[in-house]
Amino acid sequence: MATKARENHREDVAGRANVEDTPELLAYYDELERLEAGALWTVANKIEPWAPKSSSVPVVWRYDDLRAHVLRSVELVSPEKAGRRVIYLNNPGRREHAAAVGWLYSGLQVMHPGEVASAHAHSASALRFIMEGEGAYTIVDGHKMTLGANDFVLTPNGTWHEHGVSGDGTPCIWQDGLDIPLVNMLEANFYVVHPDLQQSVGYPVDDMTHTWGSPGLRPAGAEWSKGYSPLLKYEWGPTYEALQRYGKATDGSPYDGILMNYVNPVTGGPVMQTIGASMQMLRPGESTRAHRHTGSFIYQVAKGSGHSIIDGKRFDWKERDIFCVPSWAWHEHVNGSASEDACLFTFNDLPVMHALGLYREEAFGDNSGRQPLVA
Ligand SMILES: [Fe+2]
Ligand SMILES: [Fe+2]
Repeated sequence: MATKARENHREDVAGRANVEDTPELLAYYDELERLEAGALWTVANKIEPWAPKSSSVPVVWRYDDLRAHVLRSVELVSPEKAGRRVIYLNNPGRREHAAAVGWLYSGLQVMHPGEVASAHAHSASALRFIMEGEGAYTIVDGHKMTLGANDFVLTPNGTWHEHGVSGDGTPCIWQDGLDIPLVNMLEANFYVVHPDLQQSVGYPVDDMTHTWGSPGLRPAGAEWSKGYSPLLKYEWGPTYEALQRYGKATDGSPYDGILMNYVNPVTGGPVMQTIGASMQMLRPGESTRAHRHTGSFIYQVAKGSGHSIIDGKRFDWKERDIFCVPSWAWHEHVNGSASEDACLFTFNDLPVMHALGLYREEAFGDNSGRQPLVA
């Protein structure tokens, strides 16, 4: 005897599940449930959608709104007690995973001069993008890197790392980006606190930048076989210059303007095994065409102002704002200035999509590639 209503995702399409409930079938489903089993045809159309269905929603996190709250955390908790004093970005569709979008985590971390966070290692891959302040540094496996605004630094899977601000610096805020939700979903996350709480600096400051940071030149005798880039820090100055120079030699992408990927200089591949990153420049007045692809993206506005249209809705942004584009969401970007360029930093899970053979891309064909706005 059937005891309760059940989900039954029917579609009246040849090749898709379309089985009507009957008292006999409902009783059968009850028997299966008691055996920790179920009939696939009741859920097949739900678990195998026709196209990716992201539970994430597009969000803009405005720095003007968040900054005061981030600074206030300094008065409320110490880095020693908090471990990491971070305000994380919580996508309304992904709260149970503490994800900013998809399987990516992001947060804003603040440190005052003289503060040091304890050294640790984890299976999640991590990055930082510096938003404001002077004197910030990161140490990765004994390599100390000095950091300024719009610098991008890696703290890869399994490396000992710690962050601080030198005593003669200013309060610093940066964006953290990690694949914590992905690694947790894969049930593969480990976390270790350094036995001494701090690590010693074992090399000249910024040695990896000096060794690996010259484009087109490979240091003689330098070996590197780890799964992430030895160029642990990507500075803003050379990155912006590269975009400007590339802009003189190309019309750019119709979907992204002038875009350059941060890469591992040894392989030419992504900076880390699970997270890719890029910086793109939208030229004055530039308005890109819409496309969509698999992979989740978090953007930070490194320079300028404008807006993006994501799944038909307009999201205005300016310098230091952060926004996300969920997987398979239509998106296009507009530089709001007719005289200044705008630069967007992005990190994403594209290396995972490519490694697993899951990358797909589609152009928005109608309306000259521009999405109509929805109410
Ligand atoms: Fe960490
Ligand atoms: Fe895109």
